[in-house]
Amino acid sequence: MNGLQSKLHEQLVAFNQEHVLAFWDELADNEKENLTIQIQSIDFNLFALHQSKQIDSKSKQIEPCEVLALDATYKKQGVASIENGEIGILTVAGGQGTRLGWSGPKGTFPATPVTGKSLFQLIAEQILCASKKYKTTIPWYIMTSIENDSATRSFLIDNNCFGLKRTDIFIFTQGEIPAVDTDGNMLLETKSNIAMNPDGHGGVISALRQSGGLDEMSTRGVKYLSYVQVDNPLANAIDPNFIGLHLSEKSSTEASSKCVLKIDPDERVGVFCKVNGNLEVVEYSDLPEDKANECDGEGKLVYAGGSIAMHIFTVEFLQRIADDLPWHKANKKVPCINLQTGEQCKLESPNAYKFEKFVFDVLPLASNSIVVETKRNEEFAPIKNTTGQDSPETSHNMQRERATSWLRSRGVDISGGAIIEISPLAGACAEDLNEAELPKAIGSDEIVVI
Ligand code: UTP
Repeated sequence: MNGLQSKLHEQLVAFNQEHVLAFWDELADNEKENLTIQIQSIDFNLFALHQSKQIDSKSKQIEPCEVLALDATYKKQGVASIENGEIGILTVAGGQGTRLGWSGPKGTFPATPVTGKSLFQLIAEQILCASKKYKTTIPWYIMTSIENDSATRSFLIDNNCFGLKRTDIFIFTQGEIPAVDTDGNMLLETKSNIAMNPDGHGGVISALRQSGGLDEMSTRGVKYLSYVQVDNPLANAIDPNFIGLHLSEKSSTEASSKCVLKIDPDERVGVFCKVNGNLEVVEYSDLPEDKANECDGEGKLVYAGGSIAMHIFTVEFLQRIADDLPWHKANKKVPCINLQTGEQCKLESPNAYKFEKFVFDVLPLASNSIVVETKRNEEFAPIKNTTGQDSPETSHNMQRERATSWLRSRGVDISGGAIIEISPLAGACAEDLNEAELPKAIGSDEIVVI
C-alpha cells in the first residue's frame, strides 16, 4: 500500500468500510483521485450515528391540528415586509426527477400550456413582477445537487437569468450521503465511485448554512424565506397575505405552512397533524387507516390538510436548527457492483438503504408552527409524473383553468375550449390583472397569452 492508500484504509477501517478500496490497484490516477475526494467528503461520524440510530421509531400520538383560514387580514404587514427587502425565495431544485424522466434538471422542464416556459422561468418571473410592484429586491436562493448544479447554472446564465440580476441569485449545492446495504456497508456504483444520493430536500437547511447562504441573508437583511419546490407552476411564491400572517402577533410563528384539503382519504400526500403535541407532516403511508378515513359530523375528513410544500421560515430560526433534522431511511434498489467480480449486480428487490432529510421536519422544531388552507385550483398543480396524476397534462389543465377563472373574474367573456396562459409577469393573483390590458372576449378556438 502506498501512503495515500494506507491513509484512506486507516480512515475506512475505523468504520468497517475498507471494502470500497477493493479495486484501488486497478484504478487510473484520475479514478483514484475521484474516489479519494469522495471518501474525504463523507462525514463518517454522522454516518455511523445514523446507521446505529433506530430512525422513525418514536411512538407517535397523532391528533388533528388546527388549520387556519388565509385571508387579507395581515396583507399590509406582508406588503411592508416585502417592501423592506426582508423576503427571500428559497427553491429546492436538487431532486433527481426520476418519475418525470426529464434528462436535464427538473427546473428546466417546459411547464406551461402555450409558451412552454420552464419551471425556473415561472419562479424568476414571479420574482421580477413582485420586485417591480413592491419596488424592492427579492433575492432567490436555489438549491441544486452535485449532479445538476452545473447544468442549472448554465441554463440560468444562457437565459440571462430571465431578467433577474445574477447577483441576486444565490445558487448552492446540497450534500450527498452514501447508501448502505442491509449490513451497513457502503456500496460501489463503479470501481472508483461510491454509491451516494442527495441528502433530500431537508438537506437545504444545513446546505444553506454551509454555503454561507444564511450569512448572506443576514447581511442583506433578509429575515423570512418563502419556500417553494421547483415543480409546482401554480405556487404563489410571494404571497403578502401568507407572509403577513406569519409576521402577525396573532401567530408569532417561526414556520408557517400552506395546505390544501385532501380530495379523498387515499390521496398520496403528507398530512398535517399534531404529533406528540407538535405540528408535523405525517407521510400518507404512516397515517393509520382509521385516522385517514375519519370524518366529522358533517362528513368531512378530520385529517384533511394535505401538505403542498409551501412554507414561510424565519431565517433566525433556520440558523438555530440548521443541523438538527433527523434522517429517514428508505429501502431502495441501488445500482452497485459485486466486490469480488466487479460486475454489475442484478437487482430484483431493494438491496440497500438510502438516507434523506425532509424539510417538513423543521416544523415541530419551530415555536408555534401554523398551517393555513389555500385552494388547490389556485396554488397546486405539481409536475411529478410523465403521465396520469400530477403530470404535465394535469398541470396544463389546471393552469388553463386558473387563467380562465382569473380572466372571467375580470369580466372577460370566455368560450369553452379556449387555451389561455397568464404570464407571472402580468400578476400573482386575479386582482393584479386590473392593471393589465385584457381582451373583452375570447372565442373557443383561440389561444391567448396574457
Ligand atoms: P420530489 O420528492 O418530488 O423528488 O422533490 P424529485 O426529485 O423532484 O422527483 P422524483 O421523486 O425523483 O421523481 C420535491 C422537491 O424537492 C426537491 C426537488 O427538486 C423538488 O423541487 N428535492 C428533492 C431536492 O432539492 N433535493 C432532494 O434530494 C430531493
